[in-house]
Amino acid sequence: MIPSTTKANQIATYDNKIPTKKYFDYQATTPTDPRVLESMLPYLTSIYGNPHSRSHSFGWEAEKAVEDARKQVADLINADPKEIVFTSGATEASNLALKGFAEYNDYNLHIITSQTEHKATLETCRYLEGKGVEVTYLPSNKDGSLDLKEMKKLIKPNTKLISLLAVNNEIGVKHPLEEIGKICKEKDIVFHTDAAQAFGKMPIDVKKCNIGMMSISGHKIYGPKGIGALYVRRRPKVRILPLFHGGGQEKGLRSGTTPTFLTVGLGTAAKIAKNEMKKNSTHIEMLTKRLYDKLREKIGDDIIKNGKDTLPGCLNISFPYIEGEGLLMKLKNFALSSGSACTSASLEPSYVLRALGTTDDLAHSSIRFGIGKFTTKEDVDTLVEEVSKAVINLREMSPLYEMVKEGVDLSTIKWSA
Ligand SMILES: Cc1ncc(COP(=O)(O)O)c(C=O)c1O
Repeated sequence: MIPSTTKANQIATYDNKIPTKKYFDYQATTPTDPRVLESMLPYLTSIYGNPHSRSHSFGWEAEKAVEDARKQVADLINADPKEIVFTSGATEASNLALKGFAEYNDYNLHIITSQTEHKATLETCRYLEGKGVEVTYLPSNKDGSLDLKEMKKLIKPNTKLISLLAVNNEIGVKHPLEEIGKICKEKDIVFHTDAAQAFGKMPIDVKKCNIGMMSISGHKIYGPKGIGALYVRRRPKVRILPLFHGGGQEKGLRSGTTPTFLTVGLGTAAKIAKNEMKKNSTHIEMLTKRLYDKLREKIGDDIIKNGKDTLPGCLNISFPYIEGEGLLMKLKNFALSSGSACTSASLEPSYVLRALGTTDDLAHSSIRFGIGKFTTKEDVDTLVEEVSKAVINLREMSPLYEMVKEGVDLSTIKWSA
């Protein structure tokens, strides 16, 4: 739908009102793109039919909108629209993928995943272990990459599923989807990837990467919260059982009335992401580099970037000798996080950084900076000013930093328990 001039003006006005100035938590969620909102509104007002009502035009109109959105999502990953199952988000999609696959296989299988996965995968795997499924958690290299040779060694005759993130949500490390897919193809294993942080931000071709199932989330790509999808390959067919039973919607894999306005929002967000991916990637890459370079310029070399081969937009940095929580307190005017939103209430150091071999102290001194398409150079420069001021100030109060400045080698010190 092409917006009318008046509507376009409204969008422009709304656009200026998005309060993004101090928002640096784009991995947790993204602001809704005004064009997404605009596309959704008619489905909350005039076009309110149930998309599953087959006997009147109210239903047909809603059904058409849902099917158009399905195609927009499929188009972004080179899939067939019939392979897209709408869910409430990536958490549900991964639950459906893992539990649905395990149940179809009577819980008689071995799954390989990694220690740095999102909780949606890790907790689901733990649940499945309770049902008798054997799960191996692949360790991570120091730079956040996976040792695929090691992974190959872990494959057993009953390994039927490998589930690995496309991009890590805490450190932004990209996993080599094509290589993993190739191994899975050779060994006749289904490859599931949680692509919540990658979908719409980098090109993904499910066919080229031999992906069997893929979890997608709407609110990570400027779409609405409460909608996502699971890609389930048709050829060769990946067989799963549903989590929900009821009206048999979404080809029997997700019963319940499909929320038309949310699917339309996800579809529009996917379409925009496809059209503007290049432009956004260039902008976000430039700002991520600017943030890192300027922080080093202001603070010095003793800051540590966690993870190698990362997707621009996610910059996880340890600031040795200070507490990340103390730093966050000094940066209250900014929306920042020390890690995943799901675990941000916990005082435990990040399990992802721990899996990389990071010490608890360093893990505690880490901040995740999230940059998105609405972030500006000025936002980054303001952030750099405030972060560097806070880090320098906190270090001045740190006895450890004093010792380092005086030349004490901290590794020679015996710490009491
Ligand atoms: C990698 C990853 N997987 C899953 C999720 C959960 O997504 P959703 O909020 O759509 O359930 C998130 C977001 O927190 C994520 O970053």
